[in-house]
Amino acid sequence: MRLLVTGGAGFIGANFVHATLRDRPDVAVTVLDAMTYAGSRESLAPVDAQIRLVQGDVTDTDLVGKLVAESDAVVHFAAETHVDNALADPEPFVRSNVLGTFTVLEAVRHRSSQAAVRLHHVSTDEVYGDLALDDPQRFTEASPYNPSSPYSSTKAAADMLVRAWVRSYRVPATISNCSNNYGPYQHVEKFIPRQITNVLTGRRPKLYGSGANVRDWIHVEDHNRAVWRILADGAVGRTYLIGADGERDNLSVLRTILRLMGRDSDDFDHVTDRAGHDLRYAIDPSPLRDELGWTPERTDFEAGLRDTIDWYRDNESWWGPVKDAVETKYRERER
Ligand SMILES: NC(=O)c1ccc[n+]([C@@H]2O[C@H](COP(=O)([O-])OP(=O)(O)OC[C@H]3O[C@@H](n4cnc5c(N)ncnc54)[C@H](O)[C@@H]3O)[C@@H](O)[C@H]2O)c1
Repeated sequence: MRLLVTGGAGFIGANFVHATLRDRPDVAVTVLDAMTYAGSRESLAPVDAQIRLVQGDVTDTDLVGKLVAESDAVVHFAAETHVDNALADPEPFVRSNVLGTFTVLEAVRHRSSQAAVRLHHVSTDEVYGDLALDDPQRFTEASPYNPSSPYSSTKAAADMLVRAWVRSYRVPATISNCSNNYGPYQHVEKFIPRQITNVLTGRRPKLYGSGANVRDWIHVEDHNRAVWRILADGAVGRTYLIGADGERDNLSVLRTILRLMGRDSDDFDHVTDRAGHDLRYAIDPSPLRDELGWTPERTDFEAGLRDTIDWYRDNESWWGPVKDAVETKYRERER
């Protein structure tokens, strides 16, 4: 199989490429990535000789058309992903996430007339908005879209385009909406790596508001195994929710990190909450388990966190050069 992975130099995409090359020797991988601040050649360095890496923009019609024409399947990860960045400047989110997905869809549509190219569009549970902390419900495929942030609204728009292209043009696509991922190669602007690297650099971790907000954590390897299950056996036109029953509030995640790193449980600062901060996300992944037989394997959150802490401790050369700039940006926003 010739597989095109957009956004393959980002956090989840790079882990996906590593897992694919490890587990599927019959797959030839091409990565298309614009190498924004979030993309890293270093993340693909261990597999450099085994892939084709194309630096380019997912909104580039000619380039995407050419790469899709050379592929049997596309997994579309490329996106702007950080909610705080979206609040500060939403324009790149509309461009990369909405126009980028449109560009991929059009390329797949035009290629479909020759031999169908299978497309999997990677999305987020944030499209569903948030749940009350005490709501017994979890998100399902039938939950109404109700995005809160400029980030989630652009992902929701992209999902809608995919659904319409399936229906109107019979583009053979699937969608997945996954909960919050953690693991190696995640940018230090994101919650878990930020706290870990704050401790590693002698800074105090920062917690938005009271830390009561709940996220449904999943290890990135479990997410990527689910993407492969869907790509292989998912029904065209379907949306699958991916989650690992990992609901935890931000305060307890931070306290677990502090404990695993030998710090006092109160060794952090509360900072002004994020505007419009979603309260709780929770996924009901039962269709994915029942229909496609996927089950998460990395469900011991503390063990996964310990591995992640070790990875950041061992790979300071990967994140060290950008850490100061990320913290400077946060400080400017907190003013
Ligand atoms: N991180 C999570 O917890 C999570 C959860 C659910 C879904 N997702 C989705 O998974 C996907 C990957 O997320 P991530 O956390 O790896 O993000 P990331 O920010 O780490 O990586 C995104 C990658 O996309 C690339 N990119 C951005 N704009 C591009 C453009 N215009 N053209 C080409 N490449 C471009 C970046 O260079 C980067 O390599 C996104 O679509 C995101 O919405 C993420």
